[in-house]
Amino acid sequence: MARKKTDRIVFENVEVLDAGAKGVSVAKAPDGKIIFLPNVVPGDVVDVQTTKKRKAYYEGKATVIHKFSEHRVEPICEHFGACGGCKWQNMSYDQQLFYKHQEVYNNLKRIGKIELPEFEPILGSKEQFFYRNKMEFSFSNARWLTEEEVKSDAELVRENALGFHIPKMWDKILDIKKCHLQQDPSNAIRNEIRAFANANEMEFYNPREASGFLRTLMIRTASTGEIMVLIQFFKENKKQRELLLEFLMERFPEITSLQYVINGKANDTIYDQDVKLYKGRDYILEEMEGLKFSINAKSFYQTNSDQAYELYAITRDFAGLTGEELVYDLYTGTGTIAQFVSKKAKKVVGVEAVPEAIADAKVNADRNKITNCEFFVGDMKNVFNDEFIAQHGHPDVIITDPPRDGMHKDVVEQILKIAPKRVVYVSCNSATQARDLALMDELYKVVRVRPVDMFPQTHHVENVVLLELK
Ligand SMILES: C[S@@+](CC[C@H](N)C(=O)[O-])C[C@H]1O[C@@H](n2cnc3c(N)ncnc32)[C@H](O)[C@@H]1O
Repeated sequence: MARKKTDRIVFENVEVLDAGAKGVSVAKAPDGKIIFLPNVVPGDVVDVQTTKKRKAYYEGKATVIHKFSEHRVEPICEHFGACGGCKWQNMSYDQQLFYKHQEVYNNLKRIGKIELPEFEPILGSKEQFFYRNKMEFSFSNARWLTEEEVKSDAELVRENALGFHIPKMWDKILDIKKCHLQQDPSNAIRNEIRAFANANEMEFYNPREASGFLRTLMIRTASTGEIMVLIQFFKENKKQRELLLEFLMERFPEITSLQYVINGKANDTIYDQDVKLYKGRDYILEEMEGLKFSINAKSFYQTNSDQAYELYAITRDFAGLTGEELVYDLYTGTGTIAQFVSKKAKKVVGVEAVPEAIADAKVNADRNKITNCEFFVGDMKNVFNDEFIAQHGHPDVIITDPPRDGMHKDVVEQILKIAPKRVVYVSCNSATQARDLALMDELYKVVRVRPVDMFPQTHHVENVVLLELK
């Protein structure tokens, strides 16, 4: 162990032991403390330069790799390492699944501290690349220079960029030439927008000064072949805006929904903005098991459509429906799970906080000629109360799919109070799911657990749990 002038420590020949939460790997320093390391794979033997020292752990980066793990694979993306999107692209897919499965198991065991059945095997994604149906890119007038570029002798030009935020840096954008997450023509659309905007001297956004013209780009694709493109401008410039939008329509006639937003606020979220339709429809259609779902610019829809089908099929299977049940679908979004299970239920009641999502859910149910689903808007902890149950009936089965924070404790309490015979808990964060399962342990036992991988090349993992009354 050698100390550098900077007080940064170098540890030599350290074996990477585990792949931890947030996609960062874990090794052990000679003093016994944990070291968190990005871009390495369990089984690698590396020299480490620490970048942060805390009481219980270090953060660092590998400076030399002495031995490559047998689980390493060559990342296929030229942006790997600099782009924070696919942190596990250097790990074989089998190993990715292994660590995702382990993360769910550890959370349920250590945080939940509940009795668990044997897990069903994690369901991997058939497509390991080009599986996302939605991507968002940012414009910047100062392209992020990668470490290699800075070290090289080449003359560096800080030109415009259209790509992703560098992890933890709100104002730094990595220019993306080819992303392996969304199917064609996503890359072509992004690259041609950049080239056209440059050729026509359109200003890219300057996040530090909050100035410029082009701000963000969202592309949504669907299994039906429909494509939505939304460009967010920082200010109105009708001539340039129409020039760009007309170019897109002409160059990509397959775009079925072309929309834009003019947003001069500090943040670039479009959720509180007026989205304007330029050409086509203001939504695209997604299809699943013969059901059609319309998705507008602000709608939530599972980002891996093929795996969403698998996730919903597992959820429906866990729900064990016979056609006689009253089902509640809590956090229903646009009512996709509700409609997916509806033909096997007597009635489904969906509840969701976002009014636009519930409006979509109703339109979708009409389009799909589903008459046994009802949808209600409101914050779950307020809506899901005794009065609501008295009005809509006592559920036999509850399906719940909350956001990352998990369920509010009042919602958990209400489930315990009404005690349906089965609860299917779908979660994108097994740590908060484990916390909620622990709260439900007094009444429910976990009888089935199946993690599902919706996001290959990342550490994210979805988990479906079936609870039955003890
Ligand atoms: C993980 S998504 C699930 C969506 C849906 N089940 C699906 O598969 O498309 C979680 C949903 O919970 C909603 N939500 C978040 N907080 C909520 C709250 N406090 N009350 C009701 N719904 C909420 C979000 O708007 C989002 O639609």
